Amino acid sequence: MTEQGHILFLPGDGIGPEVMEEVKRVAGWFGARGLVFALDEDLVGGAAYDRHGVPLAPATLEKATTIGTVMFGAVGGPAYDDLPFEKRPERGLLALRKELGLFANLRPALVFPALAAASALKPELVEGLDIMIVRELTGGVYFGEPKEVTSLPDGQERAVDTQVYTTSEIERIARVGFELAQKRSNRVASAEKSNVMKSGILWKKTVQRIHDTEFAGVELAHVLADNCAMQLVRQPKQFDVIVTDNLFGDILSDVAAMLTGSLGMLPSASLGAPDQHGRRKAMYEPVHGSAPDIAGRGIANPLACISSFSMLLRYSFERGAEADMLDRAITRVLDEGYRTADIMQSGATRVSTSEMGSRILDALDRLA
Ligand code: NAI
Ligand code: MG
Repeated sequence: MTEQGHILFLPGDGIGPEVMEEVKRVAGWFGARGLVFALDEDLVGGAAYDRHGVPLAPATLEKATTIGTVMFGAVGGPAYDDLPFEKRPERGLLALRKELGLFANLRPALVFPALAAASALKPELVEGLDIMIVRELTGGVYFGEPKEVTSLPDGQERAVDTQVYTTSEIERIARVGFELAQKRSNRVASAEKSNVMKSGILWKKTVQRIHDTEFAGVELAHVLADNCAMQLVRQPKQFDVIVTDNLFGDILSDVAAMLTGSLGMLPSASLGAPDQHGRRKAMYEPVHGSAPDIAGRGIANPLACISSFSMLLRYSFERGAEADMLDRAITRVLDEGYRTADIMQSGATRVSTSEMGSRILDALDRLA
């Protein structure tokens, strides 16, 4: 059977390997039906530190770069909290993002009908909510120079971070947002602070130009980032795709996440620039961390990681039909009342990590 693609699994630490196990079963389910992937696996984070003394071994990075599509679990844990900065598990994740050039972070905020009551907002405000936040991930104030702390003559310290964006950085993230909108509800909101920031003015102007020259058919709204935060909790369903910079995206995506309920449900994708064949390097991962408080107990919710795999099918292999099917399987299992502990509701059936995986496979069987 010919392989349709190649995936590197990096399960990581804590519940990372536990939820990844269920993703492998889902991949196996598709494999048995002809959608076969070549699968590789390696260590990252604390697991890599234990073996190699570094959170990302050079050979692993090399594999990730060659294979180009990474399914990432989670890293970190109390055993590694006292390591020096460069050896900390998160450095492995940051190095992967940087080396693969993953500049576009996609964070869906999707409210499953069965979980609308778990939202921080009233159910009627979030029922049917389906937002995609597109956050620029490699530029902006987290990376801009100068970035320093200096001492002043009067004994104070002075700290500087610099928000920097170039036209091309804004253009490429804007295109990602518009392309996604075309496959969704055809609406983009671009969030910046053009009222007080020079980089915000450039952001707004550039997004508008990309819209006018390449995506005139998509509805574009410019919104100030603070107003965007307010609107997200006031009337979230007005949004489809939100495109924004690294800092605002960090905050707005966490706000949107809380509209949907548990961390155990939230997937993400990070995409690089297309190569000459139109293929992007990409990494898919749940938003949650390694959850040391519940690791090893078989109770973690695997759905965030499984939905991240659905994004992988959709964005790395253009398998939208299969991704839709997997998304429907998740909806169905929730509708049927199966819940891991983190999303447990009265009257529902509590299941373990692997039982949730089995419920998903069963739903896929019925949808096939
Ligand atoms: P966390 O996301 O690991 O956990 C926060 C809370 O949510 C915990 O109570 C946890 O039990 C719960 N939770 C998270 N995922 C869950 C799931 N799938 N099912 C059920 N419950 C779930 O964040 P925390 O506790 O701040 O960090 C723990 C470790 O993870 C730290 O070492 C941190 O540095 C690391 N981390 C790693 C990330 C990554 O690998 N991308 C992201 C965030 C944190
Ligand atoms: Mg954040």
